[in-house]
Amino acid sequence: MPKVTFIKVDGEKVEADAKVGNTVMEVAKELDLPMLAACGGALACATCHVVVDEDWYDKTGEVCEDEEDLLDTAHDLTPTSRLCCQIKVTEDTDGLVVKLTPMS
Ligand code: FES
Repeated sequence: MPKVTFIKVDGEKVEADAKVGNTVMEVAKELDLPMLAACGGALACATCHVVVDEDWYDKTGEVCEDEEDLLDTAHDLTPTSRLCCQIKVTEDTDGLVVKLTPMS
């Protein structure tokens, strides 16, 4: 199973086994990490905002226009910010590292 490492706001790292086909948001919710993900993955909020580790950003897939627009409303936006309900777990994302944000 591919692994995803979440880095909490306080720096604590949480490594998880992630099911291929799930989204990174779903993985975070299963772990009960502090992430609102208010719209449940419908691309209608920005409360699943994470900062993807630079080395992994290119593996997280395309950012669609709707996600870009929503990201513009997120706090602490960075060049590697993503809405993690839009990141699918694949074999290629094995080892993915994402940082949670205070608002997520
Ligand atoms: Fe709402 Fe990701 S959970 S946009």
